[in-house]
Amino acid sequence: MPLAAVIDEALAALGVQLPGAWSSLTNSSVVNVPTLFATEDGWETRGVGGGVTFSRGNLARQGNYGMLWEVVRTDRDGQESVVFLKADTENRGLLHEALLQLFARCALERAGCPEAVPRVIDILAHPKRGVVFTMNPILNATVLPTYLEQHLDWNVRSVKNDRVLWRVVAQVALYCWILEEELGLNHRDLKGTNVLVMVPRDSPTHEVKFKGRRVRITSDATACLIDFGFACRGSAERVLQQSASVRHQGFDFCPKEGRDLFLFLALFWMEVGLRGCLSLDGVEMMERWLGPKKALQIARHSEVDEEDCMERLYLNNFLPEFRRVETAPLTVLMDIAAVAPDVVTLD
Ligand SMILES: Nc1ncnc2c1ncn2[C@@H]1O[C@H](COP(=O)(O)OP(=O)(O)OP(=O)(O)O)[C@@H](O)[C@H]1O
Ligand SMILES: [Mg+2]
Repeated sequence: MPLAAVIDEALAALGVQLPGAWSSLTNSSVVNVPTLFATEDGWETRGVGGGVTFSRGNLARQGNYGMLWEVVRTDRDGQESVVFLKADTENRGLLHEALLQLFARCALERAGCPEAVPRVIDILAHPKRGVVFTMNPILNATVLPTYLEQHLDWNVRSVKNDRVLWRVVAQVALYCWILEEELGLNHRDLKGTNVLVMVPRDSPTHEVKFKGRRVRITSDATACLIDFGFACRGSAERVLQQSASVRHQGFDFCPKEGRDLFLFLALFWMEVGLRGCLSLDGVEMMERWLGPKKALQIARHSEVDEEDCMERLYLNNFLPEFRRVETAPLTVLMDIAAVAPDVVTLD
């Protein structure tokens, strides 16, 4: 089935009604989603997409832009499940975030990566908070910085440490490649806490056939992308431009070659511990991806003013002329395959 049909079906199942094709949505399109009504012990949906109830739940996480509630969802057949409900702190609603996460999930699942993004279960209009959405909680997962904390040996430079990092980078690169090719989507906020790592996995080998290539990644951990709050898709037509923060508003076409992985890798490079535990070949690889001058600049800058360094990396990513072929997803995958065929093979 073509991706467009998969997405249409997923939207219909959620009771989401768009004014036209999903691919031509703009920020100002009027989109109808099922509505939440307050009840004595929580919420329920009525009318189109009605008959689903949610418990009041507990605030599980308060992020910079979103709130995450753990709630019990009861479907029309009385089936209960625990879901995460994400709402916007500023009450502007998360329609675009929810839609982009749904599109991303559809594209990645269809390409053979069903665990790459949490499934969007509901997209709902909340009376006070605008659009909220629910997704499946990723269990047995830690955010990437915690995973690295536990799995890297910080005291020595080693090829083993390179491998720990390459396994995650390869999966993220594969996801970015598929998202870019299928949707023209950039995540734009690929920091460590927006990547979850699940361990263990049933089969350590992950195989995907995409665009006439076969990619095999061997890893006992699975990476999962979350937080599509800054993501954008499309190019000239500026389809579904989404910027949650004022700092990041303005024209920024998507996709831009190499931008997601550049940010992802540059944010690693800010950490002195990480720079000190990769093998010298691993360091060289990182310097090739980031550019030797830029890598040095990031290392120095982050030691003087971490906040400012990070801010500049984000702003750099938003420059209209941003382009870096060395961190294009397929290039990064091929680079890893060349030095670590035990991690990635590409035919
Ligand atoms: N589906 C999920 N399953 C498990 N944990 C999740 C899930 N979604 C989010 N989290 C956890 O909640 C944290 C915050 O979520 P998210 O990044 O979506 O919120 P945010 O407010 O947009 O982020 P930020 O704090 O980066 O601005 C994540 O770093 C992760 O630890
Ligand atoms: Mg986040």
